[in-house]
Amino acid sequence: MREASTKVHHPVFARIYARVGAAAEGKGAAEHRDEVLDGLSGRVIEVGAGTGLNFRHYPETVTHVVAVEPEPLLRKLATDEATCSPLSIEVVEGVADTLPVDDGSFDAGVASLVLCSVPDQAGALAELFRVIRPGGELRFLEHVRATSPGFARFQRAADIVWPLLGGGCHSSRDTLTAIEEAGFVVERVCRFSFVPCVFAKPVAPHILGVARRPT
Ligand SMILES: C[S@@+](CC[C@H](N)C(=O)[O-])C[C@H]1O[C@@H](n2cnc3c(N)ncnc32)[C@H](O)[C@@H]1O
Repeated sequence: MREASTKVHHPVFARIYARVGAAAEGKGAAEHRDEVLDGLSGRVIEVGAGTGLNFRHYPETVTHVVAVEPEPLLRKLATDEATCSPLSIEVVEGVADTLPVDDGSFDAGVASLVLCSVPDQAGALAELFRVIRPGGELRFLEHVRATSPGFARFQRAADIVWPLLGGGCHSSRDTLTAIEEAGFVVERVCRFSFVPCVFAKPVAPHILGVARRPT
């Protein structure tokens, strides 16, 4: 086990996300979470678990979840959510680029709406690669840079202020390329637009899929 090297403290964002994240569930986010977690089994690590919105969507075939969350208020809400779950879910403090777990100790990793926010995306993906066993899966649900150049330019402009409003979230990251550059092989990806509220326009383009750590 390694100690987390950095703290994340976004109390205002955490309060807002606790509301808007829950509200988005009824607008289609719940279906995205069902889809990204469908068929998972064994030991799973989820990075940046937030309030634990994924917890209700894990299938019964998952035997244990380690949910890493650095932000104190979000971690408290996730801990409360975990106690209501019939699954074995352990919520721990930590950051994505220094995961407090051993090499190859998980069958799968889950990144949902978090690779936009981590300060070091390549570092976070390198850590996921380290802790997922060879042959294991990375499930991802992320908002990403648009494929249309005009919209991508709009996102780059939005990123002047977006991270200040969204707890460090960036709207214009090319996360699919970063997943591949980390060494994962993308097996399935679907692109779609999701705008649960008018303010979410810059983060409309999403990807949802499965990548695998090669054996
Ligand atoms: C938009 S929220 C998404 C929460 C959750 N994954 C979900 O699907 O609802 C972004 C999350 O990333 C977390 N986060 C920010 N920086 C992080 C870091 N360095 N390591 C791990 N998580 C981080 C935040 O605390 C927050 O929980």
